Order: sequence, then C-alpha cells, then structure tokens
Amino acid sequence: MNPARRLVRADPEPGFEIDVDGEAVPVVPGQSLGAVLHAAGIRSWRTTRSGGRPRGLFCGIGVCFDCLVTVNGVPSLRACQIEARPGDRVTTGRPHPDGRPAADHASTEREAAGPAGPGRDRGAGGGRGDS
Ligand code: FES
Repeated sequence: MNPARRLVRADPEPGFEIDVDGEAVPVVPGQSLGAVLHAAGIRSWRTTRSGGRPRGLFCGIGVCFDCLVTVNGVPSLRACQIEARPGDRVTTGRPHPDGRPAADHASTEREAAGPAGPGRDRGAGGGRGDS
C-alpha cells in the first residue's frame, strides 16, 4: 500500500481511468480533475490568448480560473473544482503530440461565457455558479 495512504489509513474505492485528450489517465476516487492531471504529470493544459503563456493549476481553490477544461462537452469548467467520475472525457487546450492545434479553446469560451460562465450539474461545488 502507498505509504501516504497507510499513514492516514485511507481505504479508497478501486481506481478507474478517464479519457484526457484521447489518453487513458488513472484516477483515485475522490480526486479532482486538476489533481488527476497533475498526478499524470500534466502541469499546463491551456495557454492564454495574449502571449500564449501556459496555464494549469494555480490557486487550486476555484478562484483564478487558470485550470479551465472541457468535460463531457461542457466547456470552461474549473478542473480544481470538479471530481473525476468514471466515463469522463476531458478535453484540454494542449496541442496534440503530432502538432495539430488544440481541440479546446478554453480561454476564448470563458470570455464568451461572461463572468458567471456556464454551469455544470455535478452537485455541491462541482460547477461554476453553484458554490
Ligand atoms: S486552479 Fe485556480 S480556479 Fe482552478
């Protein structure tokens, strides 16, 4: 058993995988999508419109909006605020390894959505406007 889990006597449910840009990524039940991406070694997953600077987890508490992803077709969701669920399909703004442009343009969608942004029905704290 992982020493950290033994230390806190954690006994999580069996893990699962989600789809991130077409790749299977492992999930420990209860992880946020941001934690899943970070654990998979993905440190940035979109860029700013101005300057193309990399963005990923920054505040980790839902304040900065740097961690936007598209989940199951719903754009501009904060990865740090959404729990990963079996069957989730996450699209980021990362360019494809073969050089194709990114499938998602989270920063553009975020700005188009306005300050309240789109909602997502995932329970308490799961989406914008419900926490
Ligand atoms: S990391 Fe700041 S809102 Fe998600």
